Amino acid sequence: MASSDLPGITNDARPYEPAKGPSLRRITAGAIKRRKGNAPVPMVTAYDTPFAQFAEEAGIDWILVGDSLGNVVLGYDETTPVTMEQMLHHTAAVTRGTSRAHIVADMPFGSYQVSDEEAVRNAIRFIKEGGAQSVKLEGGVYEAQRVRAIARVGIPVVGHIGVTPQTAGLGPGYKKRTHRDRLLEDALAVQDAGAYAIVLEVVDGEIARELTDKLSILTIGIGSGGACDAQVLVMHDLLGMYPHSPPFAKRFAEIGQAATQALRDYASSVRERSFPNA
Ligand code: KIV
Repeated sequence: MASSDLPGITNDARPYEPAKGPSLRRITAGAIKRRKGNAPVPMVTAYDTPFAQFAEEAGIDWILVGDSLGNVVLGYDETTPVTMEQMLHHTAAVTRGTSRAHIVADMPFGSYQVSDEEAVRNAIRFIKEGGAQSVKLEGGVYEAQRVRAIARVGIPVVGHIGVTPQTAGLGPGYKKRTHRDRLLEDALAVQDAGAYAIVLEVVDGEIARELTDKLSILTIGIGSGGACDAQVLVMHDLLGMYPHSPPFAKRFAEIGQAATQALRDYASSVRERSFPNA
């Protein structure tokens, strides 16, 4: 009998079930925004329950379920193929692995570009089905309207300018962004639209410093120098689990090598009959 033939069992993906009790035990976007001007805030990406748990145990309480999921977990070359269903599935896993952290879900390519209505509907799905507390979307002036539409229904929004991987093929790709006036215009548009933070990806360090000084919202740097209010890295880059890390991403461990070695040891133990032993 197929599992879907069993009474009460369906093949539908199980939505995130919110835990009982006060939801405000999670850190709010407002509390995060108040960290501006204090010590830089560490943020990391996570895509599943165990690594989200590791991050929270390490004291990182701002976690991004990035659409870098496509590159580092799902084996795509780009982020553009990543779907809403994939992002919801992984966001819910991260939510289940944490109890206090503020979870930001990245809106995948195609989930917010078509209309305000579709963007709001998809953002709501991240809150209701993924258990996220905020959403992030890429784009400056040209997506500020979507930021405004989502923020208006009460969902905290993180912007993302500089290198925007979903549309990297259109412009200068992954090259460092140095157009000060355009970056400032984009950042102000996103702030005015109601975002509480903004990712600056591979932005010239001096420009990132100026934006951090000028904006009232938090700047989150990645490859943009040390002056930002917060820093984010992709989990698989910082732990050495992804072979194509960008040069700015410091590897704080070599978990990929350690995993390969452990698997090699396991395989030879089985072949030599030293595992399992009596
Ligand atoms: O998808 C992602 O991981 C991101 C970060 C690089 C900011 O957008």
